[in-house]
Amino acid sequence: MSKKVILSGIQSSGRAHIGNYFGAMKQFVDLSETYDCYIFIADYHALHSLQNPKEMKENITNLLLDYLAVGLDPKKVTLFKQSDVSEHTELCWIFDTITTMPYLMRAHAFKDAEAKNKEIVVGTFNYPMLQAADILLYSPDVVPVGQDQRQHVEISRDTAEKFNRIYGQGGQTFKIPEPLIMDAVAVVPGTDGRKMSKSYGNTIPLFAEYEEIKKAVMSIVTDSSEGVPKNVYAIHSLIRSAVELDPIYKSKTGKYKELKELLIEDLEKFIAPLREKRKAFEKDIPKALAILKAGGEKAKKVASAKMAEVREKIGVQVY
Ligand code: ADP
Ligand code: TRP
Repeated sequence: MSKKVILSGIQSSGRAHIGNYFGAMKQFVDLSETYDCYIFIADYHALHSLQNPKEMKENITNLLLDYLAVGLDPKKVTLFKQSDVSEHTELCWIFDTITTMPYLMRAHAFKDAEAKNKEIVVGTFNYPMLQAADILLYSPDVVPVGQDQRQHVEISRDTAEKFNRIYGQGGQTFKIPEPLIMDAVAVVPGTDGRKMSKSYGNTIPLFAEYEEIKKAVMSIVTDSSEGVPKNVYAIHSLIRSAVELDPIYKSKTGKYKELKELLIEDLEKFIAPLREKRKAFEKDIPKALAILKAGGEKAKKVASAKMAEVREKIGVQVY
């Protein structure tokens, strides 16, 4: 029996943080043991908010090093970047022609941008269609993501169903994917208690140096209940179990500074080996880039086979 498939991606829009790791990357690594795994860098998605070629290049390389350092093994995982597989944007256009404006106006990313009164680029509006193409080209069974991406996976399910319905002749073209969202880490809080996010400036970077960890932890807002600082505890519980933490927090009721110092030490213990691994990969960037390029070639084969099916179904395949 062939292995089940997982697919997921992260935008190359800035530095990875522990929310990305626990919400998404860790699942990629864990699942790569048993699934056929496609993990990519969503550089075309990042383009809707980042229009600086130098930064774009740096971000792509950085995310690639992050992926390798957290333990994605190119022997088990097809690691690639979206812009190397032009079928993603091609399929996105086809999805645009079967999706209505009112439907996309309900998407969170668009509604958030609208609420901020931003001049919204078509790419922000259309973002979920490119994501649907990313996903559906590879027929994944599951898409591991954090809670904030649930709607995007649902949109890709709807889009698959719609395409299958309109172009139903000869069976279904797209498999309907399931989101995989781990409850305990669905929304990792940031230093201000909101969702940890690059765009809120409330992150603990995944490969932070000791001083950076210290600074970030010291800035955690200590919103407490019964002497337990909620945000400190929530971040701490990512790396130590409640069984271990509860007696400590109980014995240090109200001692926020001491609890933060303990969190700094525990984060350092967790991050230091990752940081070292990343530095090792950093020493041979051409080698890392060659892995990405080879992954792109592999992904392209899968995507172009699916695209040939789509072209046949929509009637443009005349020779
Ligand atoms: P950001 O909000 O920092 O820009 P991304 O949108 O690049 O993060 O997210 C990449 C992946 O990490 C997605 O699967 C997303 O759901 C997950 N993720 C991001 N932030 C968090 C968080 N605070 N908690 C859990 N998962 C998260
Ligand atoms: N939108 C996702 C994010 O911001 C990144 C992404 C792009 C993605 N395409 C995807 C995630 C396909 C899962 C599957 O994090």
